[in-house]
Amino acid sequence: MDNAPIIDKLLQLNRQNMVSFHVPGHKNGRIYNKFPYKNFKDILYKLDTTEIPGTDNLHNAREIIEKSQQKASEAFGSEETFFLVNGSTSGIYSMIMSATSPGDKILVDRNCHQAVINACILGDLVPIYVYPNMDEKRGIAMGILPDDVEKQLARHSGIGAVLLTYPNYHGVASNLKKIEEIVHKYDKILLIDEAHGAHLGLSEDLPPSALSCGVDAVVQSTHKTLLSFTQSSMLHIQGDRIDRDRLKFMLRIHQSSSPSYLLLVSLDFAVMVYRTEGRNLMESLFENIKNFKQRIKDIDGIDVMGEEMIGNKGVESIDITRMCIGLEGITGYELERRLRKDFNIQMELSNRYGVLGVTSIANVGEDFDKLLEGLSIISEETGVSRAKLSGNLPENFTFRKVEQIFTPREALYKNKRKILFRKSQGFISGEYIISYPPGVPLIIPGEKINAEVMLQVMDIIDNGGGILGLNDGNCKWIEIIT
Ligand SMILES: Cc1ncc(COP(=O)(O)O)c(C=O)c1O
Repeated sequence: MDNAPIIDKLLQLNRQNMVSFHVPGHKNGRIYNKFPYKNFKDILYKLDTTEIPGTDNLHNAREIIEKSQQKASEAFGSEETFFLVNGSTSGIYSMIMSATSPGDKILVDRNCHQAVINACILGDLVPIYVYPNMDEKRGIAMGILPDDVEKQLARHSGIGAVLLTYPNYHGVASNLKKIEEIVHKYDKILLIDEAHGAHLGLSEDLPPSALSCGVDAVVQSTHKTLLSFTQSSMLHIQGDRIDRDRLKFMLRIHQSSSPSYLLLVSLDFAVMVYRTEGRNLMESLFENIKNFKQRIKDIDGIDVMGEEMIGNKGVESIDITRMCIGLEGITGYELERRLRKDFNIQMELSNRYGVLGVTSIANVGEDFDKLLEGLSIISEETGVSRAKLSGNLPENFTFRKVEQIFTPREALYKNKRKILFRKSQGFISGEYIISYPPGVPLIIPGEKINAEVMLQVMDIIDNGGGILGLNDGNCKWIEIIT
């Protein structure tokens, strides 16, 4: 009999019962058993339908999808909510392209996800950047200063909209209320990529949600931190700055004409749990995290990024459900590998400093116990007299500024040739170089490759980290603009 390689592998991984500190937020679906409708997951094939009488139509929702979207809108505090079946990516494209016109500038954080730059390519926009502050020791982006946003708005004419990532992948939240006041003072539209913050409304101890800060449109990856399936997200809007008809047009362009009902069903379920048990589950998660953070202090050489960052480097608040953990003497890349190989624990991502764990309301106390056990054994093995990390990188590593020569769209259509990546310093890149995860471009097409970026990329490659964006998957060749 022939085999089905994807199914085989996923079933094999499933049997391993790996502890998940990564997305999706439902953590292998085990939490579904706690709720009414739990059986929906066992009959998915029966729910995989299309637009027939009674099933409504995502692109013109008037019945069950409209009802579910209204429930979501109430729960998340928007005026109107749209379910997304093509990931937050489709929501980012749609909100950006409904808020801007071709040729506009758009002010974005340089730490944004590749989807934002792709929207600039599609919408023929000129990205202007605001740089996040950096925690240089940990190599993690911190907050965006409201003053930096204001400076760019004052300096550039022709900015159609502002898009910021809030909170960032590591759970760092800028002072969005202040930024909102500034952006609206300049009469610009404020769009938020809240891919990592769908859960923020579940507790006052989390950073305030973007909607509560008064922004105009927000995209959330429900699949990352709540309970829906991968690729299902939401777009929320409020106020009258966004042209809603144009937004709906853009959503029809950027989403499939055969939206998956499995994704819609999972969004419906995630909304139901959010409205009923969401806050209680978040309380339990907080208990587990507080307990974990108390106990982790006993582990030698451990560093956990926490609320001590608040008030520095543009950090207004921190999402404590994100755990950034470093262990002296071992790179984050290696720590991630060890946790997976020897302790059956999968973290979300790693960098030179440490690992990032994404927790959600589906994590249970036992998950944290296992992580503690793994970390303390690795710490003991690594030893108390810890060797300094070796590597090519400077001790204090920061987010490097790069020079933009062409807009991403101009770069796409220029003539190019391939050269060895290691020899590409000083050339203008025709391709993305994206550190994945998190999916943040280190180089955007049209930018000049400088020495620091080269070092950073080589460091990621040499440590077995992921680089995407180049046509050559082995990162040996790169297309440069001739
Ligand atoms: C900050 C940010 N924005 C947008 C996206 C894209 O979301 P999706 O994968 O749901 O399309 C991601 C994905 O990781 C992300 O991290």
